[in-house]
Amino acid sequence: MRKLLATTLLSGFLLAPGAFAETPKGGWVFDSSPDFPGFTRLVIEDKAGKLSGKLTSHWYGDLPLTDLHKDGDNLVFKLYNGNPRVTMTDIVVKPEGQTVRMTGKVWYQDFDLTAHKAKRAELKALDFPTYPLPAKAVVPQKPLSPTPPMGWSSWNKFATDISDQTVREIADALVASGLRDAGYVYVNIDDGWQGERDAKGVLHPNTNFPDMKALADYVHARGLKLGLYSSPGPKTCAGYAGSYGHIKQDAQTFADWGVDYLKYDLCSGEAFYNNAETVYATYQEMGEALNATGRDIVYSLCQYGRFDVGSWGRDVGGHLWRTTGDIEDTYDVMAKIGFDKNGVANHTGPNGWNDPDMLEIGNGGMGFDEYKTHMTLWAMMSAPLVLGNDVRSMTPETLSLLTNKEVIAIDQDRLGAQGLPARKDGQTEVWTKKLADGSTAVGLFNRGDTTTLISGSWADIKVSGTTVRDLWAASDHHADDGYTYSVPKHGAVLLRVIPEGNAR
Ligand code: GLA
Repeated sequence: MRKLLATTLLSGFLLAPGAFAETPKGGWVFDSSPDFPGFTRLVIEDKAGKLSGKLTSHWYGDLPLTDLHKDGDNLVFKLYNGNPRVTMTDIVVKPEGQTVRMTGKVWYQDFDLTAHKAKRAELKALDFPTYPLPAKAVVPQKPLSPTPPMGWSSWNKFATDISDQTVREIADALVASGLRDAGYVYVNIDDGWQGERDAKGVLHPNTNFPDMKALADYVHARGLKLGLYSSPGPKTCAGYAGSYGHIKQDAQTFADWGVDYLKYDLCSGEAFYNNAETVYATYQEMGEALNATGRDIVYSLCQYGRFDVGSWGRDVGGHLWRTTGDIEDTYDVMAKIGFDKNGVANHTGPNGWNDPDMLEIGNGGMGFDEYKTHMTLWAMMSAPLVLGNDVRSMTPETLSLLTNKEVIAIDQDRLGAQGLPARKDGQTEVWTKKLADGSTAVGLFNRGDTTTLISGSWADIKVSGTTVRDLWAASDHHADDGYTYSVPKHGAVLLRVIPEGNAR
């Protein structure tokens, strides 16, 4: 008896791996979890030595453990949250007496957590609900964006530091600066407005937004429209409440407030919907819910260009769809997106637009010529023009880049073609875009680090015309045989080549 007791003690406290003594099978509940990703429980199955398991979190629901194996006394696995850009690293679960300690990293968050062994009821209480997706259908698309949407969004400048007061001031500034009259009519509140759901599941704004309906009225009274943001996942990218499990209810709430535009951002939903079918279905679900409200709401799909979204964005009722991850206020990121990750050109057109993300013009990270390239490139692409700067305080240079009517007309041309490179030579690119009146927009871009002469014949780029209008310089030239322009480092020239007799 004594001997037995001694052995048990030894195996329990000194030699044996305690919690995983015979098998790691069982359920474990975390004592506390950081906000992201809010791990709640770990469940391990052991079927005749074959291990499998899942880790549950507030952000991602149940995630399967991949590459699960024992390494000495420890359990080791990796976790895929649905985002192909995340590098998966080992997560280690180490027995410590009768508890376990889990260390690792998911997305950008390191964690070091302890968990205790839990009984069925405690585990069950942490079940994460899953909801069926609709059977595949085409959502009738409303013709709400015959030309690319234009407006302003809070994200690039303010991130989540926004309020009712700021949005009202922005609305006033859009009017006073002439931006509204130049076409920028949507005032979009991005992530960070959400508060909590009430007992009936209705989502309320947080205390920075005391009355969303009153804010919508304020915006509408100024000839502007209001945009809002949500996610099909349980959490938005910034960790606020998403629409998971409340799709119809949220669509109705938005409509009741008077919302005119919804950006629907995959975010934590990428763990639930990470193949072409489920991503389509979840965007279809919100498209149907928006239509069911009867209100006209522009539907902006934000799922970073996955699964060739341009080929089906219209079919879920969408009017624009992001082609990339997030823009940043640097020339390198803007240029990478604008030149190289702007979507499949023939998917863009009236009521459905490739969206290479919002503008950074005026935010300070790029020089004047770089911002000119940003505006020129977005106009050549027929990209949505959603301002991302603080329009309450802009330099005259910023305002001039944002309100050049002839440049905006290239973006808003009713043909809705996406311009494409006709020539690439080293660091220079010449883009062309057909316009509805028979003229052609020509963008000359210098991606290099020194001023460069860009020249060539019109015939080479299949453009013809007699008059060349330099839109930024506001000057006309005779077309002659070709073009020669000195283009500064990271700069651009935007031309409209007009056929004979085609007066504008
Ligand atoms: C994602 C989107 C951004 C912005 C943030 C908000 O990163 O791509 O445009 O909406 O979420 O959290």
